[in-house]
Amino acid sequence: MKEQMTRPAVLVATPHFRLSTSGRVFSSQSKRILEFLSFANILRIEDEFSVLAAREVMLDRWKPSANALDVLCLPGTSWVLVEHSFNMPWIFALLRIRAVMKQGFKPPLAHPERYSWCRPRPERISRLSELGVGIQVCARSLTGTGLTAETAWRLIEAGMVHVLSSDAHHPGDNLLSEELKHEVDRVAPGAYNLLTGKIPEMVLNNCELPKLPLTT
Ligand SMILES: [Fe+2]
Repeated sequence: MKEQMTRPAVLVATPHFRLSTSGRVFSSQSKRILEFLSFANILRIEDEFSVLAAREVMLDRWKPSANALDVLCLPGTSWVLVEHSFNMPWIFALLRIRAVMKQGFKPPLAHPERYSWCRPRPERISRLSELGVGIQVCARSLTGTGLTAETAWRLIEAGMVHVLSSDAHHPGDNLLSEELKHEVDRVAPGAYNLLTGKIPEMVLNNCELPKLPLTT
């Protein structure tokens, strides 16, 4: 019988980055990321997982340049993970996201559950999805309390999420746990593997994502 090959898991580290950051700070951060990658790849267990790096880009400038965005993408793709300030009004958030798309990039939007425009009007997520935006919710939000947790769970339940990321900030910050898998699959059957495996793989393969809400 032919032995079945298991594909290695991929971990993507996305340290914070502000678009307004100077070139000098960018170079020193990039050097540290390269050091991290070589360290992580020494530590990795056999070929069970591989480590990549991109950035989580704070949209704190109106007009991002294509050159700046190009080096911030997930490796080999035109997907660039973006975020904006938590209280930014919807129309400004939309304009900033569209400015990224106008430069030819596809933004997965980080943690919509934290934004004031999303909480009262979660249907705005489908509008973003129609435009081609990816939606990424944090496991940290799901394991928390209050409005952020409530919104995150509402989005998962309604199929309004493409990717579930950890938001881990240090070793041992184990947020994508078996308990969480059980809870996610309880409110949206089969969603955990889809949001942590199949759809993130589509992002890394630079594919367009399915429109939200997902129909599983
Ligand atoms: Fe963030």
